[in-house]
Amino acid sequence: MTQPAPKTFHVKSFGCQMNVYDGERMTELLGAEGMTATAEADADLVVLNTCHIRERAVEKVYSDIGRQRRDDGTRPMIAVAGCVAQAEGAEVTARSRDVDIVVGPQAYHELPKMIARAAQGERVHDLDLPGLDKFCTYCVVPYTRGGEISRSFDAIVEEAKSLVDAGAKEITLLGQNVNAWEEGGKGLDHLIRALDAISGLSRIRYMTSHPNDMTEGLIRAHAEVEKLMPFLHLPVQSGSDRVLKAMNRKHSAHSYLAILDRVRAVRPDIALSGDFIVGFPGETEAEFEDTLSLIRNANYAQAYSFKYSPRPGTPAATMDDQIPPEVMDDRLQRLQALINEQQLAFNEARLGTRTQILLERNGKLAGQKIGKSPWLQSVHVMTNAQIGDMVTVDLVSAGPNSLAGALIDKDVNVAQTPAR
Ligand code: 5AD
Repeated sequence: MTQPAPKTFHVKSFGCQMNVYDGERMTELLGAEGMTATAEADADLVVLNTCHIRERAVEKVYSDIGRQRRDDGTRPMIAVAGCVAQAEGAEVTARSRDVDIVVGPQAYHELPKMIARAAQGERVHDLDLPGLDKFCTYCVVPYTRGGEISRSFDAIVEEAKSLVDAGAKEITLLGQNVNAWEEGGKGLDHLIRALDAISGLSRIRYMTSHPNDMTEGLIRAHAEVEKLMPFLHLPVQSGSDRVLKAMNRKHSAHSYLAILDRVRAVRPDIALSGDFIVGFPGETEAEFEDTLSLIRNANYAQAYSFKYSPRPGTPAATMDDQIPPEVMDDRLQRLQALINEQQLAFNEARLGTRTQILLERNGKLAGQKIGKSPWLQSVHVMTNAQIGDMVTVDLVSAGPNSLAGALIDKDVNVAQTPAR
């Protein structure tokens, strides 16, 4: 049916922070189109910004759509947005004749055009998620956040400069697959070298990286850029090629280890960090042991590990052979015990060396501060230097999660006092 172009709207958001943020973006967008936000019962357009986190979410959406019918038999234009829209796709319009628009999280900017088409009587879908070169089957991010976007080189460098002007000593380039950042064919290493040129900045980090985007240039930066810290967070998830394939990771255990060899050839001391999922659907005991054996080969300085948990709308959530919780618990424990051993060994290997610590927070004891080493280890030190100061320490004791350092520097803030 054709209907007048809506003048008022109501965005109803369910679920997480990201969804609430998206709802605000849609409200701004529609406001910028000259539409006015109003109560649900009066709105010409109702946007149901759905969440897919619980099983029953889908049923709830359909009953919500039904409730939009008003006492006089009319209904507003209805748009279904968010994760249910993305996951259910055309199914939404097939099941409910009242839905005019189905819009995924990457297509919100198209909403004004879609509204105009819907007013002409068309039923409109836009579920495009551009740039989906990485689509891990366990991961909900591509559905909710969409593909990779590179912020502009200039904007990032400008922001970094103003942070350093304001006193920042360390900058971490953040993003899911941050090492896929590119502009005009230039990769993350180019950006890192630009930050390296900012005087006053001491340390550069980046996370999280995907093995397939570990370019030669980025590896070389670890050899050549002094401010780039010797730390690499490179999730692998599993050491079994069958499981990696089912996860759609597009790399093998062998290719992952080969990347580590190249990185260590230029930066032998690099601290390696990773992410692991145990109990992916169908994971056998032997396949889990492949993960343990990869860990033994890779040798981690730290790692995050998770029991697989089905995320609604992802391919893995409906795969056969979901692993029982007690099996996952057992595997997680064994994996973490091994990682713990490696963490302790990594920390102990630095005992007796002298290093710089960037102080980040107060410790439990009076006068104690906790800072980070270049390898991202937490180091406790007694000092009256301030948070944000860099101090030099000798590493004197080590545990699996932190080290203790003895101050070598004169305390920076008492350096002018006649301490000597
Ligand atoms: N179940 C368990 N862990 C997951 N991760 C992502 N999705 C899932 C899931 N469905 C983990 C991965 C990823 C980290 C950020 O969270 O290890 O690298």
